[in-house]
Amino acid sequence: MPRAAVPRNIIIVGAGIGGLAAALALQTDGHNVTMLDSCFEFAEAGAGIRVPPNSARLLLRWGVDMAKMKKSVSNAYHFVRWADGSTIVRIPFENIVENHGAPYYLIHRADLHSGLLEAVKRAGVNIVTGAQVVDYDFETPSAKTSTGRVYTADLIVASDGIKSIARPLLTGQPDVPRDTGDVAYRILIPGAELLKDADLAPLITSPATTSWCGPDAHLVGYPIRDGELYNIVVCATSRNETTDEVWVVKGSNDELCQRFASWEPRVQKLCKLTRDFMKWRLCDLPVLTRWVHASGKVCLLGDSCHPMLPYLAQGAAQAVEDAAVLRQVLASTQSLSSALKQYESIRMPRASLVQAKTREHQYILHIDDGEEQKVRDVLMKRNEEQNPVFWGWDKRKNWLFSHDAEVLGHEGANWRTSGREARL
Ligand SMILES: Cc1cc2nc3c(=O)[nH]c(=O)nc-3n(C[C@H](O)[C@H](O)[C@H](O)COP(=O)(O)OP(=O)(O)OC[C@H]3O[C@@H](n4cnc5c(N)ncnc54)[C@H](O)[C@@H]3O)c2cc1C
Ligand SMILES: *[C@@H]1O[C@H](CO)[C@@H](O)[C@H](O)[C@H]1NC(C)=O
Ligand SMILES: *[C@@H]1O[C@H](CO)[C@@H](O)[C@H](O)[C@H]1NC(C)=O
Repeated sequence: MPRAAVPRNIIIVGAGIGGLAAALALQTDGHNVTMLDSCFEFAEAGAGIRVPPNSARLLLRWGVDMAKMKKSVSNAYHFVRWADGSTIVRIPFENIVENHGAPYYLIHRADLHSGLLEAVKRAGVNIVTGAQVVDYDFETPSAKTSTGRVYTADLIVASDGIKSIARPLLTGQPDVPRDTGDVAYRILIPGAELLKDADLAPLITSPATTSWCGPDAHLVGYPIRDGELYNIVVCATSRNETTDEVWVVKGSNDELCQRFASWEPRVQKLCKLTRDFMKWRLCDLPVLTRWVHASGKVCLLGDSCHPMLPYLAQGAAQAVEDAAVLRQVLASTQSLSSALKQYESIRMPRASLVQAKTREHQYILHIDDGEEQKVRDVLMKRNEEQNPVFWGWDKRKNWLFSHDAEVLGHEGANWRTSGREARL
């Protein structure tokens, strides 16, 4: 049922989760979308992704076939101590649909990407692969590829990721991603290996998200593909492991086992079961001056404008929210430039707040043992404002998870007043 106020010809640059979500949302609303991606073949990282309710409700509504995807569901969020595995707090995640209106999925990235791609193709989006955009004309607007081909449209959405070439051209500033000082090791272990070990089996048979919190590192583990795989993201303070130029490098089992040799037995066992894995340098950006070009015809979306640390599992979810708001402002507003202005003013405060909170979590989750850690652990058990985990207090959890980005003007409370955002 087309609802677009004015059907537009739209070019989306970048077919990651953000770009695909935008293509699906806009094409199904009556726009004519063409996607350009530099890839010849899509290959998402071999890793898991958490799809929280604020994103799941939109993907389900737009017709992504989540039922077909093999996935796991988290029935609890379990924070444990690094040295002995004892519980800091176990937050039940059982009534997610009742409480937040949509499920919380644990999925393989490749499955999510191909599910989205399928929906996008079904909707009739024209996808051009092997199209690397090298320049923009923001006034026309048009995008030029490395082969010299020029694509013209009414609106261009640049969802070209953290290393966006559109961003500096659009903002007129370098806006170079900065090293957060952390690296992520992304590890997948066959579930069958865990099932063979009595200590590890419950990680598969009782699916939950487990966060081991220790000095200078935390590990997040959860099953995906209905327990076929156990996904681990090791988030660690970088010890000069990567240079400024290198974003992704191979990690070795030896160095992993060495680094976590003093952690609780389950962590050591998981390290031993690890084969090849990749290490990602984690970068982000301060809040940008703008997401929309002055011409009112080109905007940024997803990691291109709000790259963040993965510590709230919200990066892709916020990109999906971007897509929802873009869809709604284009449906309700005749003027393209005022629609984009609304998009920016609605999305920027919420996305940049989540971004800032991931930086706070970087600090909170890596506190060394001692007095400060003891205080943190006590506060983490309390469902109140002082809980250092952003969604550890129901009011903020609802703000994050129950949000329906397609209902405009309901962004609600601003949690910026408390906390540590000066660090950003
Ligand atoms: C370790 C880790 C764990 C994470 N866990 C979660 C999680 O659990 N939940 C969650 O919601 N988020 C998570 N995130 C964040 C999430 O992965 C990102 O926010 C999300 O993938 C960004 O999607 P995107 O579409 O904006 O960008 P990208 O996925 O980077 O896509 C960009 C696309 O643009 C294309 N492209 C780039 N330049 C050009 C060009 N010049 N011309 C044409 N095409 C181009 C690329 O080929 C690519 O396909 C995690 C991130 C990390 C690092
Ligand atoms: C849709 O966009 C493509 C690419 O810009 C264009 O060739 C085509 O004519 C458009 N279709 C309509 C109906 O406008
Ligand atoms: C690691 O980097 C820090 C600064 O980031 C520097 O002070 C230190 O000397 C480096 N260590 C090694 C071994 O290179």
